[in-house]
Amino acid sequence: MRVTRVDHVSIAVPDIEQALGFFRDVLGLAVTTTDVEQKQGVVVAFLDVGGAEIELIEPVDADSGVARFLRKRGPGMHHICLEVDDLDAAMDRMRSAGVRLIDEQPYEGTGGRRIAFVHPKSAHGVLVELYETLPGDRAGRRLEDLTDLRRRVLQHGHVAVAGTRGFLIGLRRGRGKHDVAARGPEAAPGPE
Ligand code: CO
Repeated sequence: MRVTRVDHVSIAVPDIEQALGFFRDVLGLAVTTTDVEQKQGVVVAFLDVGGAEIELIEPVDADSGVARFLRKRGPGMHHICLEVDDLDAAMDRMRSAGVRLIDEQPYEGTGGRRIAFVHPKSAHGVLVELYETLPGDRAGRRLEDLTDLRRRVLQHGHVAVAGTRGFLIGLRRGRGKHDVAARGPEAAPGPE
């Protein structure tokens, strides 16, 4: 098993369009893909940084790990993703070293990638996503309207609580952040 490169650095934000005002418009990075990750209840946008990427993640599901992260800590660095040449071998190696995993089995992330998360407690405070390159990996990348993608997460049934959307819109506008933080459950260290 070999770690071959940094695939992306992920930043949790309450509003991707707003964040693009910096990452795309000021830094001049190009958005390569927008997508949903149903398991985490988030929409994502990837921006190219010379072979690695910045991933912006925005929760649509108020119960998701990313939403809890935002309530507890505000926007900021959420995880790093390392590419490995063999994810199963990597996970075996983690287990035999006593490393705590968030995902016992790899699952399908954005773009059909196989991914798994390592618990930050085993990685010196950093949530680490491991990802294996698959044939045709970047072939299906596309840009879809973020509003449509948010709707797709909602329609998927991931968001069961009525009013969640309004709650998140409030969060996106930065209103009542501290009230929310005071009421909200403790943020989990990562997505689950
Ligand atoms: Co990621």
